[in-house]
Amino acid sequence: MTVSVQDSFGSSGHSYDFVVDALVEKGYIIVDDFLSAELTQALRYEVNDLNRRGINRAGVGRGGELQVNNDIRSDKTHWLDGQTDAQRRLLAQCDALRDEVNRHLFMGLHDYEAHFAVYEPGSFYQKHLDAFKGRSNRVLTNVIYLNNQWQDDWGGELAVYDEADKLIERVLPKGGRAIFFLSERFPHEVLKTTKQRLSIAGWYRINSNTGSYVDPAR
Ligand code: OGA
Ligand code: MN
Repeated sequence: MTVSVQDSFGSSGHSYDFVVDALVEKGYIIVDDFLSAELTQALRYEVNDLNRRGINRAGVGRGGELQVNNDIRSDKTHWLDGQTDAQRRLLAQCDALRDEVNRHLFMGLHDYEAHFAVYEPGSFYQKHLDAFKGRSNRVLTNVIYLNNQWQDDWGGELAVYDEADKLIERVLPKGGRAIFFLSERFPHEVLKTTKQRLSIAGWYRINSNTGSYVDPAR
């Protein structure tokens, strides 16, 4: 099921009730037009500009364990720092959603961290979980797509699996679209893309002290 939203909500006071409901009912939701075309474009220009200036290959693991591993993922990432108007607007929208989820579900989402990701042609990210049960403070994942257009045969879909490892969704990375899913429950992978694929991946986190563990895939 894919829900479509016309306006950029948050700023327009739109309700995120349907996201909350979907998280309760099935643990994930795909939302078309989560971002306005205008904000999607502003963020696309920004990531293109960062990419031209040179951003880094993504690593897997955290802290001392961080490694750049070509077999697992081949995207390039750059953490958002809220220093531009477009980033601030995006973060405000993601915060509004967090507040609504917290109000209804008492998930205790504390903060949100996100990075731009650039998958050049040939890039992929093998099947993984963003968090392991009880070991991570990443609770809710969102991925937001920034390409201007995406054709069905370009590859680069996000394949989402259920807890029994059955494929449940193949999400085309269409601009403005977002997916939200509970981080511990859904293994997922980025299929090899044939075109440059632009996205923002973000994680809502709880403020737990899990210092002895390493978060995967940062
Ligand atoms: C990730 C991830 C999915 C996507 O960065 O952890 O799974 O569709 N990204 O870009
Ligand atoms: Mn992931």
